[in-house]
Amino acid sequence: MTDQLRSLALDALTRARDRTAALTSCVDDRDLTAQHSPLMSPLVWDLAHIGNQEEQWLLRQVGKGEALRPEIDSLYDAFEHPRAARPSLPLLAPAEARVYAADVRGRVLDILERTAFEGGPLVDAGFAFGMIAQHEQQHDETMLITHQLRKGPPALAAPEPPAHAIGPLPREVLVPGGAFTMGTSTEPWALDNERPAHRRVVPAFHIDTTPVTCGEYQAFIEDGGYQERRWWAAEGWDQIRQHDIGAPLFWRREGGTWLRRRFGVTEEVPPDEPVLHVSWYEADAYARWAGRRLPTEAEWEKAARHDPQTGRARRYPWGDADPTEAHANLGQRHLRPAPAGSYPQGESPLGVRQLIGDVWEWTSSDFLPYPGFVAFPYREYSEVFFGSEHKVLRGGSFAVDPVACRGTFRNWDLPVRRQIFSGFRTARDARQPAGPDGGLR
Ligand code: AVJ
Ligand code: FE
Repeated sequence: MTDQLRSLALDALTRARDRTAALTSCVDDRDLTAQHSPLMSPLVWDLAHIGNQEEQWLLRQVGKGEALRPEIDSLYDAFEHPRAARPSLPLLAPAEARVYAADVRGRVLDILERTAFEGGPLVDAGFAFGMIAQHEQQHDETMLITHQLRKGPPALAAPEPPAHAIGPLPREVLVPGGAFTMGTSTEPWALDNERPAHRRVVPAFHIDTTPVTCGEYQAFIEDGGYQERRWWAAEGWDQIRQHDIGAPLFWRREGGTWLRRRFGVTEEVPPDEPVLHVSWYEADAYARWAGRRLPTEAEWEKAARHDPQTGRARRYPWGDADPTEAHANLGQRHLRPAPAGSYPQGESPLGVRQLIGDVWEWTSSDFLPYPGFVAFPYREYSEVFFGSEHKVLRGGSFAVDPVACRGTFRNWDLPVRRQIFSGFRTARDARQPAGPDGGLR
């Protein structure tokens, strides 16, 4: 078991570093140090921050080693410097940042070999190694967002998602009411906010079998959705009026056609693909227009994990097995979501698809601690973000590595954010009518 976890940790760290290298070697030094959006850090900040977090947790805490470069801790402290201010800091130059991250990693691999995977919460089951692999992958997704915001010719490439035979799917399924187990106390590398496992009563509800598509979202636009006050939460209405927003980020209308920019390529918006780059307010407004609502976080997790046959909560919709390429669109294997209805092998017991991968899904819920929450190993990962300011996103996008994605994984962001790989699906109470387009999809 320990040997297996140790080799999983080595794999996860190596995979993360390969991805970091790919994301930071495909553009020149000017692009690495530039600020492509005030919402993002320069890529070279993420690179050294990845190394610095690894130094702090694995080298100093787990390895009980001497600090390598304590003088740069504050430069790479996310709370000391807002993203917009990072380009003007005396950051390590790209070559220096690469050498630093590689130096830390070399020492960490020795520490990984000699550390017992028991004897305290940081090392039990290799938690800190898993945490740092997840941290690097989260910044890899952040860097991919920076690439999406970057102007100029494409720097990244990937094959198209596979064409699955989709067949007629019901538009929604009924999830029966009752208690289910939310969160986890057993998943070895689950982060603090996913813990502990606890029972939640969730009344019966209907949920979409797939995320909402670009074509469906277009119908909302064409119906004047962005012009009608009644669909919008007050702050959402203020945001779209103030910034003159009338479509998802990166979309533009030319003649009668909707185009979008995706990693440096302009293309027609694909009607069957899950919609991307919408804010929580846009998702919320669409759902109201459709006569529906966003699922709560508990509803989402129940749809994703609850097995009505056994009453057990699964690790993933398809069972307890780790994701493969047949289950979900994860890990930046593709640079886009797969068409709605793809990944039949990844469906939940009730037939809900694409809960894992493709697009992060906005839920109606605020980011709050579970009963019995204990901050670990640092308050700044989750605890300082709890409250009504942030909304929860679930399921992970095409840009999330499997190590940072599972049925219990919780992400969060401000409801105005739309540069992230965010989409949504809708739900309704079990006792409400289905709305105009009830039937098959
Ligand atoms: C959980 C994705 C919101 O990127 O701000 C990275 C993850 N925390 N470094 C973020 C994180 C510290 C976090 N999110
Ligand atoms: Fe970080």
